[in-house]
Amino acid sequence: MNLARIHSKPNLYIKSLEKAILDTAGTFLLRGWKQIEKENVEIVDDTVLPEILRIQAEGFEKKRRGEIIKDSNKFRNIFYVIKSQNKVVGYCIYHLKPTFSRRGFEKKAVIYSIAIDRKFRSKGFGKRLLEESIREMKLNSVLTVFLYVNVNNTPAIKLYEKTGFLVVKEVENLCGQNERCYKMELKLF
Ligand SMILES: CC(C)(COP(=O)(O)OP(=O)(O)OC[C@H]1O[C@@H](n2cnc3c(N)ncnc32)[C@H](O)[C@@H]1OP(=O)(O)O)[C@@H](O)C(=O)NCCC(=O)NCCS
Repeated sequence: MNLARIHSKPNLYIKSLEKAILDTAGTFLLRGWKQIEKENVEIVDDTVLPEILRIQAEGFEKKRRGEIIKDSNKFRNIFYVIKSQNKVVGYCIYHLKPTFSRRGFEKKAVIYSIAIDRKFRSKGFGKRLLEESIREMKLNSVLTVFLYVNVNNTPAIKLYEKTGFLVVKEVENLCGQNERCYKMELKLF
């Protein structure tokens, strides 16, 4: 542990510690996760990882190779891929977040990353991937699914709206320095 870095950026350190604790709690929530029969949607396995890394790199400016490989182990049950003719054409990674409210303990899911192979976009794969995975979230008593999307990412915003997500707030500097994004939410119960 680099103590000098902790002293120079204590807020950053607390935030990353908080994230690590929540992620660990999230993996506990995955114990006993129930899977349903899904049309052309499966959970990730190591053989399809190179294809997923390619689709991620094509879909986003920032490559997240290390994080995606880590998630394929840690959040395997909620790291979904969609296939067409047995070929992976997209993926969607969720993280689970335990929350406490007046109603008690609740499970929320956040869409950490989603992308469809450029050659297969606008053909309904993104929508099917979300619908199938969200069906499974509901079966597992996830109360809300939320995500953050750049205000300029029209294809993604349209996809989320068509799937039933609503904009709940606008935030700055979360999707990048001086960038604005929407927090969007879908209530399942
Ligand atoms: C966002 C993304 C996943 C959408 O996937 P997709 O498979 O192309 O989306 P779908 O074909 O299922 O479209 C779903 C809805 O969104 C709308 N939509 C999709 N692409 C659109 C576009 N380029 N412009 C406007 N609307 C669009 C469609 O109207 C469609 O609704 P419909 O079925 O009623 O016609 C895809 O564009 C992508 O991988 N982008 C790069 C990565 C990214 O930005 N991820 C999101 C980060 S928050």
